[in-house]
Amino acid sequence: MQRILITGGAGFIGSNLALAIQDRFPSASLVLLDDFRSGHFSNLEGYQGDLCAERLGKVDFKGLLGDQRMDVVFHLASITDTTEHDQFLQLNHNVEDFRHLLKWACEDQTPVVYASSAATYGQTDDIMTESKVPSPQNVYAFSKVQMDNLASQYARQFPAWKLVGLKFFNVYGPREAHKGAASSMIYQLYRQMRNGQRPRIFHDGEQRRDFIHVEDVVEACLGAAALASSGVYNIGSGVASSFHQVIEALNKAMGLQYVPEYIPNPYAFYQAFTQAEIIQARNAFQYQPRMTLQDGVKQYVDWLDSAS
Ligand SMILES: NC(=O)c1ccc[n+]([C@@H]2O[C@H](COP(=O)([O-])OP(=O)(O)OC[C@H]3O[C@@H](n4cnc5c(N)ncnc54)[C@H](O)[C@@H]3O)[C@@H](O)[C@H]2O)c1
Repeated sequence: MQRILITGGAGFIGSNLALAIQDRFPSASLVLLDDFRSGHFSNLEGYQGDLCAERLGKVDFKGLLGDQRMDVVFHLASITDTTEHDQFLQLNHNVEDFRHLLKWACEDQTPVVYASSAATYGQTDDIMTESKVPSPQNVYAFSKVQMDNLASQYARQFPAWKLVGLKFFNVYGPREAHKGAASSMIYQLYRQMRNGQRPRIFHDGEQRRDFIHVEDVVEACLGAAALASSGVYNIGSGVASSFHQVIEALNKAMGLQYVPEYIPNPYAFYQAFTQAEIIQARNAFQYQPRMTLQDGVKQYVDWLDSAS
């Protein structure tokens, strides 16, 4: 990998990926693209490559990149606030901007690794396999389903071209503070507890989610870039942890003993259970999440404490 474009490069996952690539492939030429809708420049402290501040759908790729071919594009740009219910906005930005990227990448068959989401699966009590029929419960999730549909249409039309979708589960870790209310519950609970408040969770705390540390997500992106063919893969830890277990891990890492405060869940549609089946990614590119919830939370708490 020598020439790499990352859309959403000032965002949470994008900045972690950019800094990891810069560290591991020092001779790589990196271009980040971000419209700073939610991303923040402070995520890119120490970044030495190029950055284009522009909305993806408006980018003139030839003007930006010239005739040189990219080795891979990591497409992470998206409206990531799942409570943004403006249908046109979500679909126009998330799907049409992706279409714009794919039209350009198609010309040279530039490999694209793009972010889909576990939100596409909707509400279920079962472990989520990639073959599950999508059941989007909000327009954000619907936009991700449409991105998957678009990518699979292109992949069928151009079988030699590599388009890889990654369905991220609940990602947490350094450089997500800019997301505010859309940041991970692990970050939000940490903030409450460091401010001397009891951690507030939705009643009854036995909801279970698949939490995945951003370092494992970065590894998944790099692994997927090395794939030889198209596909869609779940990227989670493979473990569903309850909100109570999250608080237990935070208490342990922070040396506290808070009991939760329960609040009513205001959302009509809520994923009270997510768990990724990760066999497909393991078989395809040896995806193996390394961080347990306890280790990931400990590492993250140490990072947050040292950053404040
Ligand atoms: N963090 C998670 O738990 C999670 C879970 C599932 C899927 N995802 C997906 O992963 C990707 C990255 O998410 P994140 O958590 O880093 O969120 P983020 O909001 O931190 O990053 C998204 C970045 O994209 C930029 N952006 C948005 N729309 C753009 C556009 N049209 N043109 C250019 N830049 C644009 C934003 O400014 C931001 O920097 C997204 O596609 C998101 O839907 C994330």
